[in-house]
Amino acid sequence: MYQKIDEIKKYIKCFNIQTYDDLETFRIKFLGKKRGILTNLFKELKEISIYKRKIYGKIINELKKEVQRKIFHYQSKNDIIKNEKGLKHDYDPTIPGKSIEIGSIHPLSIIKNRIIEIFLNIGFTYVDGPEIEDDWHNFTALNIPIHHPSRDMQDTFFLCKNPDILLRTHTSSIQIRYMKKHRPPFRVLSIGKVYRNETISSRSNFMFHQAEGFFIDKKVSFSDLKQTVHYLITSLFGKAKIRFRPSYFPFTEPSAEVDIHCNSEWLEIMGCGMVDPEVLKNVDINPEVYSGFAFGVGIERLSLMIYDMKDIRIYFNNDIRFLRQFKSEF
Ligand code: DAH
Repeated sequence: MYQKIDEIKKYIKCFNIQTYDDLETFRIKFLGKKRGILTNLFKELKEISIYKRKIYGKIINELKKEVQRKIFHYQSKNDIIKNEKGLKHDYDPTIPGKSIEIGSIHPLSIIKNRIIEIFLNIGFTYVDGPEIEDDWHNFTALNIPIHHPSRDMQDTFFLCKNPDILLRTHTSSIQIRYMKKHRPPFRVLSIGKVYRNETISSRSNFMFHQAEGFFIDKKVSFSDLKQTVHYLITSLFGKAKIRFRPSYFPFTEPSAEVDIHCNSEWLEIMGCGMVDPEVLKNVDINPEVYSGFAFGVGIERLSLMIYDMKDIRIYFNNDIRFLRQFKSEF
């Protein structure tokens, strides 16, 4: 055994280490759990007398330390060759790390999330609906007559005619989709993109976002609608002056538009009204028993006021300098 130890000592000393792979081979050769040279010697110790075991035990332990020292030496050596391709391991650990940039939430999404939160607080359910709609959900079931201008090719993006498949022109189609599948009472909110063939300007775009809300139950009245709109506006703006103006929508009766007083002028922000009995009939809800209100708000309009902006195009041209300013809350 003594002779063997002498050879092993030389072997440890002369083992040529240039790469990390060499270092790993070296470690396994001597200390590998199954066939490491020193590991085997330790096993052999069990078979010799106690007297010899003490002496050889000490010597083998020394060898083990020798191997560990050599491993440590190469591990801490900065210029060890990293791999066979000869790449130097030459990083400088003192250079500051590259920070990961975290984006911010888009301002329209911030407002969308805020509105969802406001309505979840008063028991509304949030639902989504398809942006590609058919004529029935977008127009017919909402009591929009066949010659209504919004059915015109000039105003609506039709994907195909007969059958009429189109990009929804408003989120009111969600009312129909939801009411067809559920029985009252319900309070529902939905927010999404709508499309109209409009010229892009500071106030309009061919696509914008709408929030649609509706509430159907027994004995729902116009004062419930007013209260809800008031709650939405004060939650968003704090104290604000609003007014209800009589208006017309085919799917509500009576109908109104809501204006908000902002920078000494009245700005229209939403359409609303009591759901027309014809609409309820179209989705098999008895208008003698149930009534309800509905409203639709333009998110871009609201956001211009909330962020005091003049031009909605800023929300869509992806200017990172603008977008970066928004934190996740306002
Ligand atoms: N859908 C209407 C629009 O896009 C907005 C609207 C008006 C929605 C009255 C409603 C409503 O739910 O009751 O102009």
